[in-house]
Parts: sequence; C-alpha cells; structure tokens
Amino acid sequence: MTNETIVSLDIGSQKIAGMVATVNDDILEIIGAEYIEYEEEIVQQGRVVDIENCTKYIKNVLSELEQQTNIGLPLVNISIGGGFLRGLSSSHKIAIETTRRRITELDIDNLLRSIKNVSNVPPGSHIFKILPQEYIIDDETKVKKNPKGMFGSSLGALVHICFVLDNPLENIFQCIKNAGSEVDQVYPHSWSAAEALLSDEEKKSGVIVIDFGKGTTDFLIYLDGNLYGTYSMRCGGEYIDKDLSRILNISAESSCEIKKQYGWCNYPVLIEQKSAELEKQVELRMVGTGAKIYVNADKISKIVYERTDDIIRKMVKKKIETDLKTKLHIGAGIVLTGGSSQLKGLVDYVSRIFAKPARIGAPKGILGLPASYQYPCFSAVVGTLLLRKKEMDKKYKNPEWKKKLMTSKKKVENVWKKIWGGW
Ligand SMILES: Nc1ncnc2c1ncn2[C@@H]1O[C@H](COP(=O)(O)OP(=O)(O)OP(=O)(O)O)[C@@H](O)[C@H]1O
Ligand SMILES: [Mg+2]
Repeated sequence: MTNETIVSLDIGSQKIAGMVATVNDDILEIIGAEYIEYEEEIVQQGRVVDIENCTKYIKNVLSELEQQTNIGLPLVNISIGGGFLRGLSSSHKIAIETTRRRITELDIDNLLRSIKNVSNVPPGSHIFKILPQEYIIDDETKVKKNPKGMFGSSLGALVHICFVLDNPLENIFQCIKNAGSEVDQVYPHSWSAAEALLSDEEKKSGVIVIDFGKGTTDFLIYLDGNLYGTYSMRCGGEYIDKDLSRILNISAESSCEIKKQYGWCNYPVLIEQKSAELEKQVELRMVGTGAKIYVNADKISKIVYERTDDIIRKMVKKKIETDLKTKLHIGAGIVLTGGSSQLKGLVDYVSRIFAKPARIGAPKGILGLPASYQYPCFSAVVGTLLLRKKEMDKKYKNPEWKKKLMTSKKKVENVWKKIWGGW
C-alpha cells in the first residue's frame, strides 16, 4: 500500500483528538496530531449534546491538522462508545448443497447474510459490524483465514456482531458533515484502543481492555484469540469528581484536581498498610462562601475508591462474569487505558479484584507519534488509524476486491444514502 492518507477522530467527553497518517510501502507514519479540550458541555457521557459547538471543535481540529499536513481531509474515521453500542459473539452455520466442492466467496457472503437476517437487532439500532472470528468447516475444522477454496459440506462461523443506536451515531455524523468532512469508517472505541495496545499473544492468552475515560468506560474481552464481547457504559472518571464535589461542597475543577493528586483507589490496601499517604492534609475552598476547609487524603481516597469500585467491580467485572458464565481465562490479564487509567493505585486495585495481572496501556512505538501523545487518553485515536490501515491492507491483498472496488463503492454510497437520509 503506497501513498494513502488516513485520518482519525476521537470525539470524547473531555476532548476531541485527531490524527493524520500516511501509509507508504506498508509503513504507517503519523504526520499530524491535534487535540482540544472543551470549554463547554459539548459531549456528555460519550454523546453529543451540542451539535453546533461540537461542529466548531471538529472544524478547529481538522483545520489545524490540514495546516500541519498541507493535505485536505475530506474523509475521517471515527471510534464510538457512549453506551450506544454492544457487540456479542455467536455461532452460525449454513449447508453447502453439493458435497465435495470448494467453498466459494458466494458461500461466505450467504453465511454472513443469513447471520444478518437471524440477528435480533435492538429497537432503534442497526448492525454496523459483523466480524468473522473463525470459520468452521464440516463442524470440526476451524480456520481463522477466509476458507474460500477449501472443500466442505457445511460452513459455519463464530462471528462478533456489533449493534449501534441510530440517533447518537447520526448526531456525530451530522457534526462531521457540518464541519465539511464525511465519515469513512466507524469502529467501536474499545476495538481502537485494543488495536493500539495489544499483541496477538495477549489476545490468544485472553485479555480484557478497559478504556476508562471521562464520561464513558468502554471495554472488550479476547478469549482464545477471538473477540468475545464489546461493551460501552455511560460512566467514567467524572462520576468520581461529581461525588467529591457533592460530598465536600467544592467545585468540579477542584474535585478533579484532588482526585488526581490525593485519590488512591486501592484505599483498603493503604489502610491496611497504615500508609502515610492517607494522612496528607489538603486545603480546599467551599463553593459559594469560598470558606477554607481542610480534608485529609484518607477521606478523598475513600470516595475515589468507592466510586471506582462501582464502575470497575460492580459494573465492568460483573457484566463480563454474567455474560461469560464460566471462569475467566485471561492469562494476559487486564490492560487499562483512557485518561482515568492514571488514577493513583488503579493497577494494584484492578489486579486484586480480578486476581490477574494488570498494566496501563498507552500508544507507543509508532513512527511519527509525538511524545506528548504517548498517553492512555490517546490510545483510541491512534488505534483507529491502525484499524483502518489493517482493513485497507486486507482489501489490497485481495485482487478480487480491486475488481469489485468501483461497483461496491457505488453500492455502499447508495446504502448510506438510504440510511443517513441521502447526504
Ligand atoms: N492523572 C490522572 N488521574 C486520574 N484521572 C485522570 C488523570 N488525568 C486525567 N484523568 C481523567 O481522565 C478523564 C479524561 O479521560 P479521556 O481523555 O480518556 O476522556 P475522553 O476520551 O475525552 O472521554 P470519554 O471516552 O469518556 O467519552 C477525566 O475524567 C480526567 O479527570
Ligand atoms: Mg475516550
């Protein structure tokens, strides 16, 4: 693949981040990066609540990227979460009428079409990704690659199906369109983060990736190299700030600051160790009167721990365990990313509650990625570039795809026109 440009945008609850990369001789190089934190409430819990201002911020990020790269950016790839998508895995099978014949591309298309037809799409949603994990021929031979050309009497597949709510996604599309660009591809937020952070070995050993942001927590689980579940919850680090602010009667800004500096979410361990960290005194100003109050890190950490526990143990862990119904085989443990993964003591807390190793994941080792973007809050925007490249690689390697390119492009345009009201 040569001379391709890929653009990615992450429209988060705290900031909009954008990146531009070129791909030459299969090497991806980031040539532009920009992010802007909102000054108003533009995105709440992952959903756009102010289209006009969101458009303005997207425009600013894109025009800054255009200036940095000297390239027009008509198409952007995005990652989405915001509690409006859900992905699950299921198995499907079709018979191949004549025995002893080779599986064709048409058989695979038929299988994927039948999956689409039998899936229960939640109201107000549509299927936006069907990701084959492995194909099963004659109920016994499992192959990861496209099985075209192999002999078989039945073709099955383990697929990961992602549903997305129409309206919140359409709002994002609208903002991007208003900003003068169009959406190329859409990926679940957790897929993007995972692409930037995981090795194939980790996927094979089993791993959970948790993107703990401001307004959302997106997570996924890989078991045996297969994507098992994609989740997005409308709850993130802001939930902790709100509680600190309500209990201590301080501003949202102060609560965010004290959370970062004094909030230990492995609080029970520090109590047990009689840690001096918890004795630190913090001077704060009350909202309204401006009166000085003194609070110790013990009180702050207790609140931070309880709210983190609500999100990570009572929601994320419980959801995964309920869906899995068996013991968690996640040899590679838990990879934490997103801005809130930097909470003090989070790695210790998470590894204790899951009884598995945990680590913080940040994007690294990518050509051109500035040092100031090698932080957990930029995993998704980097991962979207990588996912798009991977998808383009697959298509470029498939010569049939090249032949079909022009016709399928037309078809896709028509489908989008129908879905998104003809723009
Ligand atoms: N050092 C830190 N310790 C704890 N929390 C932090 C730290 N730095 C940033 N955060 C928190 O990270 C959050 C922002 O994370 P991020 O940039 O990943 O959010 P986002 O992607 O814009 O939003 P979302 O994905 O939730 O829609 C904020 O709640 C912020 O308080
Ligand atoms: Mg995010």
